[in-house]
Amino acid sequence: MEMRFVSTGSYLPEQVVDNDFLSRIVDTSDEWISSRTGIRQRRVVTAGEGTACMAAKAATKAITRAGIDPQDIDLILVATMSPDNYLPNTACEVQAEIGAVNAVCYDLSAACTGFIYALNTAYAFIKAGIYKTVLIIGSEVLSKMLDWNDRSTCVLFGDGAGAAIVQATDIGLFESILGSDGKRKDALTCASRYIVNPLVSKAISLSDKESLDYVRMEGQEVFKFVVKTIPGTIQQVIEKAGCTKEEIRYYVLHQANQRILESVAKKLKEPIEKFPMNLDKYGNTSSASIPILLDKMNKKNKLNRGDKIILSGFGGGLTWGTTLIEW
Ligand code: COA
Repeated sequence: MEMRFVSTGSYLPEQVVDNDFLSRIVDTSDEWISSRTGIRQRRVVTAGEGTACMAAKAATKAITRAGIDPQDIDLILVATMSPDNYLPNTACEVQAEIGAVNAVCYDLSAACTGFIYALNTAYAFIKAGIYKTVLIIGSEVLSKMLDWNDRSTCVLFGDGAGAAIVQATDIGLFESILGSDGKRKDALTCASRYIVNPLVSKAISLSDKESLDYVRMEGQEVFKFVVKTIPGTIQQVIEKAGCTKEEIRYYVLHQANQRILESVAKKLKEPIEKFPMNLDKYGNTSSASIPILLDKMNKKNKLNRGDKIILSGFGGGLTWGTTLIEW
């Protein structure tokens, strides 16, 4: 069995936060942010919105466009590093919201590579003949993980969700290279809760318990890692698939930074026009960025059956993944 994309959907919170707004709360400027990153705006959730509800909204659009019955979904995978709860998982919350009563549901955490890992998990299940219809979602509320006093991180990220329905099919193309390097885990971090139980001898002060950690990043390390790693994985995947780069219609990369995408394009000697971008509007939405971009392209009828497309994600862990699909 092979796998194909059937539909996409996305949801972005309505609240727009532009660079000028940020320059009023931290020492930054529209000029600095846009010239270093390409980001001009991002969307941020307001009260009542969350990772699961955005995921469900994106999923509902994908289901409607696919014209399928939610009861036909066998598996729901949600890639997120910002779930609303430790329990239940986000995928179960989505299941309840959309009525996908027959689905197996779980979350997958791989930072900005999450959607690519989830896509590969879906492919493995479909290839093995275990499931036929899979709903894959990337959904993030990164605004709650940011230190809004830290100008080096708060300007980069945004909230949002993207979804795709993939199904088993007879013929298709799917080649991947995935990787992880835990030794470089400190490049992007955000700690969870302190261990507080009767066996922990170290007294933890109330202020320790209450102080939450936020996203910390070694920006230049991450930049160098991506530019060094991703072009090679793209070349290898194209070779593995027996294709040439001339046959690649689009390189849909994780929307972290315009300069990163330009460097990758330059290394591959490919025109930047083949690298669609929307990070100027939405910032870095981590696991949601690739499915949001695919959905925006899909709505503009830019994706045609038979198009060969590279999808590539990279981020904390460190993790990375590049996949060649045929639309
Ligand atoms: N506004 C103004 N100045 C800022 C700033 C901001 N928002 N953020 C950092 N600066 C300052 C720094 O304090 C530093 O000042 P100093 O020279 O006085 O110490 C200066 O700008 C340069 O900082 P540096 O971190 O070296 O900048 P950079 O050119 O590496 O750009 C990033 C920073 C974050 C834009 C860049 O490293 C990057 O894009 N990295 C990849 C990050 C990423 O995409 N992560 C997610 C991957 S999934």
